[in-house]
Amino acid sequence: MKGLILAGGKGTRLRPITHTSAKQLVPVANKPILFYAIETLKEAGIDEIGMIIGDTGPEVKAAVGDGSRWGVRITYIPQEAPLGLAHAVQTARDFLYPDPFVMFLGDNLIKGGIVSFVERFRTSRPNALILLTHVPNPQEFGVAELVEGRVVNLVEKPKEPKSDLALVGVYLFDHHIFEAISHITPSWRNELEITDAIQWLVKSGFTVEPHLVEGWWKDTGKLADLLEANRLILEDVCHEVRGAVRGCSRVEGRVVVEEGAEVVDSLVRGPAVIGAGARIVNSFIGPFTSVADGVTIENSEVEHSIILAGSTIRNLGGRLVDSLVGKNVEIQRTEAKPRAYRLMVGDNSQVGVI
Ligand code: G1P
Repeated sequence: MKGLILAGGKGTRLRPITHTSAKQLVPVANKPILFYAIETLKEAGIDEIGMIIGDTGPEVKAAVGDGSRWGVRITYIPQEAPLGLAHAVQTARDFLYPDPFVMFLGDNLIKGGIVSFVERFRTSRPNALILLTHVPNPQEFGVAELVEGRVVNLVEKPKEPKSDLALVGVYLFDHHIFEAISHITPSWRNELEITDAIQWLVKSGFTVEPHLVEGWWKDTGKLADLLEANRLILEDVCHEVRGAVRGCSRVEGRVVVEEGAEVVDSLVRGPAVIGAGARIVNSFIGPFTSVADGVTIENSEVEHSIILAGSTIRNLGGRLVDSLVGKNVEIQRTEAKPRAYRLMVGDNSQVGVI
């Protein structure tokens, strides 16, 4: 069985971070989301992986390499434009055909892995196996309607959903999916939807097995979901202090302090991770915070946030919460007159002030 990871797409819902960076490379608990996808496939015994890339391809390639780090072989497959998930599958036909494969959306995280789904697919050999989960906002996903446990209908982002069962971004297919894709047409958003291709399989009498995901699953396309994914992953970190903890510092609960990081006269309350070379001075780092490599935080309080590499946060008057701070950002209180906010903020940024 092969794997297909989709790491193209524009990531419009995570701008401005995605103006300069692939959404799949945004880190959760200091590890790019995409790496979790590779690990999940590897764990399920899949080591031949095709990776769909778009405009951010060079950055994805630089981060992932040839896959040897995970013991997998990665073949990069450029998609000339983000024309939909089914279009991506079609683009990867030469790599995939005629093997069965797992398709994994590179911005999805699935706790508990996919080993059991892959085993089930291998033994019962349906034409497709789809993963479903209950969500409060089904109109934002592909939605499945089941009757007596069988899939009868699938609709992409329905205005009036027939159920609350969303399609999770992990799919298992045999080669009939290519025939299905050749029968569908672009949707209202001008994309070839994989949901429509699976619906074609259902209508044409192929077997599409549904499987309910019991652990959590996150599509990290939006800030709130990314922060939640960060929270969920941090829940599982263990206490490991490899860096230096100095002065009257306290490191409470499950906290990772990486090599070369320094915590000076500060309180770090886990779960949290502090990246290599980061400096936390006279500050409070609250639960569910990921501080990436080389970040400096001085005289400030940060909680439930993701701070990306190389950023500096100094002398804040209030606590920074629920935030995603990009790379090499500087946030600091100044004494300059007049007493005012001074910003240089990228397009599509969101800033909340008090
Ligand atoms: C895509 C699929 C949708 C699925 C979702 C899961 O949505 O089209 O059916 O439920 O991924 O993450 P998109 O991210 O393109 O909005």
